[in-house]
Amino acid sequence: MESNKTRVLVLHGPNLNMTGFREPDVYGKKPLEEIDADINAAAERLALDVRVLQSNSEGILIDTIQEHRTWADGIVINPGGLTHYSIALRDALVSVRLPIVEVHLSNVHAREEFRRTSVISPITLGQVVGFGGFGYVMAIEAIVHMLRETL
Ligand code: DQA
Repeated sequence: MESNKTRVLVLHGPNLNMTGFREPDVYGKKPLEEIDADINAAAERLALDVRVLQSNSEGILIDTIQEHRTWADGIVINPGGLTHYSIALRDALVSVRLPIVEVHLSNVHAREEFRRTSVISPITLGQVVGFGGFGYVMAIEAIVHMLRETL
């Protein structure tokens, strides 16, 4: 039976499967599996249906966004390096006409100049940056709040 829970698609882009191992001083020591466990715990607490996917492939991320057009009520995405240049990913996110929140583990605004530009952020409700894996929980809470209270 279809549940009437709010449905959120959570996407991790390229290299986020290396979280915990790669540059732990920048991205934190927590592996992605533990971050995903926190996301699932938040979903349980907020009575949401959440689907989580990591891919290193831009095409798989775009296919997943398109496939969830009618399933999802909102999308939380950390586009990784695609953030800074992927017009194709941005176009896919626009095409599904869903509320989107952008997450970055690190504070991208306090790093190299090229990380301060996001081609994704103009089409989002907002960004959560610099809070490590907890940023996903904040983003999910924000999207649910916006869906229930404002949109
Ligand atoms: C990142 C920031 C990006 O600039 C970088 O390319 C990543 C991770 C973050 O979560 O802080 O892969 O999205």
